[in-house]
Amino acid sequence: MTDIRQAPIGVFDSGLGGLTVAREIMRNLPTEKIVYFGDTARVPYGNKSKETIIRYSRQIVRFLQTQEIKAIVIACNTATAYALDVLQEEVDVPVIGVIESGAHMAVDSTRNKQIGVIATKATISTHVYTDTISRMDPEINVISQACPLLVPLVEEGWIHDQITDEIIMRYVDDLIEHDIDTLILGCTHYPLLRSEMRKLLGDRVTLVNPAYETAKALEQLLTEKDLRNIMPKAKDEPTPYRFFVSDDSERFADFANSILPIDVKSAKIIPIEEY
Ligand code: DGL
Repeated sequence: MTDIRQAPIGVFDSGLGGLTVAREIMRNLPTEKIVYFGDTARVPYGNKSKETIIRYSRQIVRFLQTQEIKAIVIACNTATAYALDVLQEEVDVPVIGVIESGAHMAVDSTRNKQIGVIATKATISTHVYTDTISRMDPEINVISQACPLLVPLVEEGWIHDQITDEIIMRYVDDLIEHDIDTLILGCTHYPLLRSEMRKLLGDRVTLVNPAYETAKALEQLLTEKDLRNIMPKAKDEPTPYRFFVSDDSERFADFANSILPIDVKSAKIIPIEEY
């Protein structure tokens, strides 16, 4: 490829959830190409160890590098929490995760300095959101809650469901007790529960979607590094989005079609353990 700016952005996640990030990138940066990898064979990452998540992330990055990507977005809170620093050290293209920009938005939006964070067990156990927010404003109190049942509920399609509402309420009960006015949806699947959360928490609590904030941060990063693709898409150019998974490509395509603004015909299966 002659012009690096026309190279795709590599986006990866433990599975389907990172599509919420890909969706925001598609909306915010419509001229950019995307290579998405979902590790559907090894999901969830949210209850795995640091060593395992770093090993998986390195394998995925090695695969993405075969696709000549110009930047990498870790579209997974858990992988960002454990592997962002390591990958930024090791990889020769810019790498961003989803945590910093979500934390930033929450700090900007809180009025009473009480911020709630919901995420996987692994993300919560790293204290990464708390540490990042404390660095930005030490006066802010962060109340964290792991919500391990929410990912399977979303993947099961139980989004508008009374059982899901009851589980959400049980998880956020303590956060409400602490009078939070801002809640970070710190797991890729949770933005899909946004309308339920809005209904249950009311307008008083600002919901922060790190996927949306990450797409804005990516735009800024590409602009700073002179990596924006400014070429309009040619008429006969093939679709600028390619999808790869480690297992069950049909389920992935079904899920992708339910949330993306494009038609995903298929996802190619990659033997990721070989990378
Ligand atoms: N993508 C993960 C995250 O954002 C959620 C799913 C998982 O546990 O792998 O933390």
